[in-house]
Parts: sequence; C-alpha cells; structure tokens
Amino acid sequence: VSKEFQAMHDAHELLGKFYHHLLVNTKEGQHALEYLLERGFTRESIDKFQIGYSLNSWDFVYKFLSKRDFSPEWMEHAGLIIKRERDGTYFDRFRDRIMFPIHDRNGKTIAFSGRSLGLDEPKYLNSPETAIFNKSKILYNYHLAKPSIKKMQHAVLFEGFADCIAADRSGVENGIATMGTSLTDDHIALLRQSVQSVTICYDSDKAGIEAAFRAGNHLNNAGFQIKVAMMADGLDPDDYIKKNGPEKFRNGVIGASLTWMAFKFLYFRRGKNLQIEGDRLAYIEVIIKEISKLDKAVERDHYLRQLAAEFSLSLDALKQQLAAELSLSQDALKQQQKQIFFAEKRRTTG
Ligand code: CTP
Ligand code: MN
Ligand code: MN
Ligand code: MN
Ligand code: MN
Repeated sequence: VSKEFQAMHDAHELLGKFYHHLLVNTKEGQHALEYLLERGFTRESIDKFQIGYSLNSWDFVYKFLSKRDFSPEWMEHAGLIIKRERDGTYFDRFRDRIMFPIHDRNGKTIAFSGRSLGLDEPKYLNSPETAIFNKSKILYNYHLAKPSIKKMQHAVLFEGFADCIAADRSGVENGIATMGTSLTDDHIALLRQSVQSVTICYDSDKAGIEAAFRAGNHLNNAGFQIKVAMMADGLDPDDYIKKNGPEKFRNGVIGASLTWMAFKFLYFRRGKNLQIEGDRLAYIEVIIKEISKLDKAVERDHYLRQLAAEFSLSLDALKQQLAAELSLSQDALKQQQKQIFFAEKRRTTG
C-alpha cells in the first residue's frame, strides 16, 4: 500500500511540474496563460502557486505516466485517468483546463482542480476523493499560509482559489480556502492547530453571505474569534481586487471587516423593510435572541443599548425581553436535560 501511495504522490508531483511547464513555456499553453494574465494573475503568482495547463488531449497524461512506469491502475486510483467501461482503456480526466495543484499541509501535491477556459461546465473539475485526497479535510494554500497565519495569529478564509491567490498578490498571505464544500469539523480541527482567530471573506453575493453565516456559526461554536469581510456590489475578492486594487482590499475590506455580531445585525436585516412595523419587530426579536446567546453580560448590555438607541426603544423593555429570552433558553436547556435523563433511564431499565 505505501508503495502505491508513493506512486500517487510522485505522479502528482511530476504532472504538476509538467502542467506548469505547459502553461508558461509552450505554444499549446499560450491561450491559457493569456487568459490568466487577462484576469489579473501575475507571473509571480503563477509560479508561486504552480498553476498549470492540461492539454486538449484524451491520452496525454496516460502516455506521459505510462512512459514513466506508473501503472494505469494506480493512476486511476489517483484520479488522474478514467477507465472506459466498454473496453477497459483509459482517458485523461483533465483536458484543456487551467490546473491548480492542491497540496496537503506538508506541501505534497495530492490532487488537482481544473478550471475551464470558457463556459464549459463544470467550471471547476476536482480530483475525486482518493486514498491521498479528501476534500473535506483540505484547506487550499494551508501549507504556504501557515507561517504567516502563525505569525499574525490570524487567518483569512476564502471561497475559492482565485480569491486566495489574488489576496496573496495583494499582500494578504494568511489566506486559505475550502474547495467548494462548506467548512467541516475536519477543516476546523486543522485550523485550530495554528490559530483561533479568523476573518471570513466569502463572495458578497447571496450564496456567499449565506455560506459566511453558516461558516461563522460553525467557527463561533468551536470557540473561534470571528470577523466577516464584505465587498460592495456582490463582488468576490478576486473581482474586487481587480477592480479596486490591493490597497483598497487590504484596508477597506480586510481592515474594515465586521465583528461577528455586526455581521449578524446586517445578515438578519436583509430582505426586511425596517420602516414596516412587522418587519421591525421581527428583526428586534431575532436580534434579542442573538444577544441572549452571548456569554458576557457586558456584551449583552452593549448590544442591547445599541438596539435601544437605533430604534428609540426603552432599554428597560429590551432588558425585560432579554430576561424572558434567557429564562426561555434556560427552560429549553432543562427540558433537554430532562429528556436525556429519561432516555437514559429507559435505556438502562428497558
Ligand atoms: N467550485 C467547484 N466547482 C464548481 C464551482 C465552484 O468546486 N463547479 C469551488 C471552487 O473551489 C471555487 C469555489 O467553489 O474556487 C468558489 O466558487 P465560485 O465563486 O463560483 O468560483 P470562483 O472562485 O469565483 O472562480 P472564478 O473566479 O474562476 O470564476
Ligand atoms: Mn490498488
Ligand atoms: Mn461563489
Ligand atoms: Mn467567486
Ligand atoms: Mn471569482
């Protein structure tokens, strides 16, 4: 088995280098290089992230690896080639795509993600889950970002490769990204090894804001300090940087990120018209619920005062409502404990 793993690693390493060579040195890769430069990728980041290009061929990788004595069976297990049902021959998984190598925490290449150059679907094609690659455990760029994350005691979490790379080029070197999955417990466990404080910088479109809310709750429950960075006009970080430049991104977006609570204030406000009484009351209620979840009395008081000031409400009324909310959640907790107690009793007696 370890021989097989070694071969999988070696194949990825070799292929990663060759994809990169195809992109930067060959005529076949020229259109792909132009596409990247047009998008704002620099030659420096193309080298640093070892971005590459996979040829528009059905059997280039198959031949390239076979010639170097890699067994097709193992290369199929590695996700690099695919077996045809009908005759047992193989074809390349990645064809005519920009190739982003995916590294493990030690910097070994363990998978690829290939972006289509045009409008071909899927936009990003990832390696399948293999013996050496599990998407829900990998944070893109963790191996390069780790020293900076440790030094700054802070990480910035992005949605995509392009965002992570554009941020790096803008001087934000502590960036990492999930690979199109939501943030898992495994991701959080990996992060926890080096940091407790994270800025979530997802796309500022509807999907990104929803995902930021979920990731934030997940991180918050795991005890992380959280901030959320947002961009105007529904842009993603990569687009924002291309449009507004690195300084604005560093100072106006990352530097101006919201506290977790301030983000939630905005989050629950979306789609509501606070001029309308019903919407306003619903909003106030949900915010009081959020405030009731805060551990520190001082923080609860702070946000309660903020709410009172914004809506010209009496602080006393808000305090009463908060107290009701707190005793409700106390009751819910007691109820829960009771249920657990009886379930346990049933289990042991019956
Ligand atoms: N993703 C994926 N498969 C897709 C679309 C997205 O795996 N078909 C993942 C990729 O890791 C991508 C991330 O989800 O980087 C975020 O998706 P999206 O915002 O749609 O893409 P961008 O990162 O903005 O990519 P680009 O700028 O190249 O369009
Ligand atoms: Mn095998
Ligand atoms: Mn997105
Ligand atoms: Mn995006
Ligand atoms: Mn993008």
